[in-house]
Amino acid sequence: MDVNQPILGGIALRGSGSAIPSQQLTNGQLGLRVDTSDEWIRSRTGIASRRVLGPGETLTSLSKNACSRALEMADWDPESIDLILMATSTPDDLFGSAPKVQSLIGAKNAVAFDLTAACSGFIFSLVTASQFLRNGSMKRALVIGADQLSSWVDWDDRRTCVLFGDGAGAIALEKTSKNEDGLIGFQLKSDGTRGDYLNLNQANNYIPLVTDNSYQEGRFSPIQMNGQEVYKFAVREVPGILQQLLRETSTDSDNIDWLLLHQANQRILDAVADRLKIPHSKVLSNLENYGNTSAATIPLMLDEAVRNGQIKSGNLIASSGFGAGLSWGAVLIKWQGPLGFNK
Ligand code: ACO
Repeated sequence: MDVNQPILGGIALRGSGSAIPSQQLTNGQLGLRVDTSDEWIRSRTGIASRRVLGPGETLTSLSKNACSRALEMADWDPESIDLILMATSTPDDLFGSAPKVQSLIGAKNAVAFDLTAACSGFIFSLVTASQFLRNGSMKRALVIGADQLSSWVDWDDRRTCVLFGDGAGAIALEKTSKNEDGLIGFQLKSDGTRGDYLNLNQANNYIPLVTDNSYQEGRFSPIQMNGQEVYKFAVREVPGILQQLLRETSTDSDNIDWLLLHQANQRILDAVADRLKIPHSKVLSNLENYGNTSAATIPLMLDEAVRNGQIKSGNLIASSGFGAGLSWGAVLIKWQGPLGFNK
């Protein structure tokens, strides 16, 4: 991949929003279902509770709320949006959930589609949307990261069910001049040879149709994960891709204001920061409250940090997503949202 192609324009991050389900599930409550403990989960992952979508809430409604908040922060008319890109592996509709979100927010001029890249989905979507803005074919985009892994985890498998939760986040991206570009650099990678470490495969369930014909019923097996291999993958590849990005953009790690990683496990966050010699005080983390919400973790964390005043306009953020595929990606971005937005 040649990331050094001529760039015609730039992008600016103008707004963020997020939404979480109302149901909270603590480690203690999980202990009523599987043989685990608050102490085990906290010490191995840093997670204390997670949110789970229940009756009356859908991933589409969470995404709509996240988008509405991002639009409010950016102070945009929904009809001014050209593109809605929804990163999700768990859409309400397998044909795509983004068009439904488009209709709910009244963005009638936007083309809307889903993109699947598991926990890397938000970074992959941010970079994809940026191409339309940089080449001048579009002016405004909403990029959503949303997932409902609670529907796809085996709630009797203590090795996986303690890790995941549901949520949604969105950012508002705008075309700018090349000089103001807020996407300083990016890197995206995939390695399907290691895909078996983490997957959510279709169930191997063939049903007789007529005569000798059969069909595969549309059903998925629960998430399968080799936790130790995923851990090793993350602590090796994430520092590697970030170091490559810093080198290519001639950026000193001292100049990074925030390290915003996919919120998978606090031990992974700390190990990556140590490898990059970035102090833990610059590592954004909210996984204690939400666990791993897959494509949602990065925009959810970004939005919280913007609204609580940690991230300020002009801050430089190094961000990386990683997960199933295997897939991983990194961006170096500048936050250019409205000054003093804090609600
Ligand atoms: N409660 C209590 N005991 C448990 C639990 C639990 N929830 N889960 C596993 N154990 C037990 C195991 O059975 C095992 O017991 P044994 O020694 O008697 O067999 C023991 O704890 C150790 O198990 P390990 O799997 O070796 O535990 P490990 O230290 O590797 O921690 C963990 C597991 C937290 C999953 C870790 O491997 C990890 O964080 N991996 C990365 C996972 C990840 O981030 N996945 C998401 C990627 S992003 C995406 O794309 C979705």
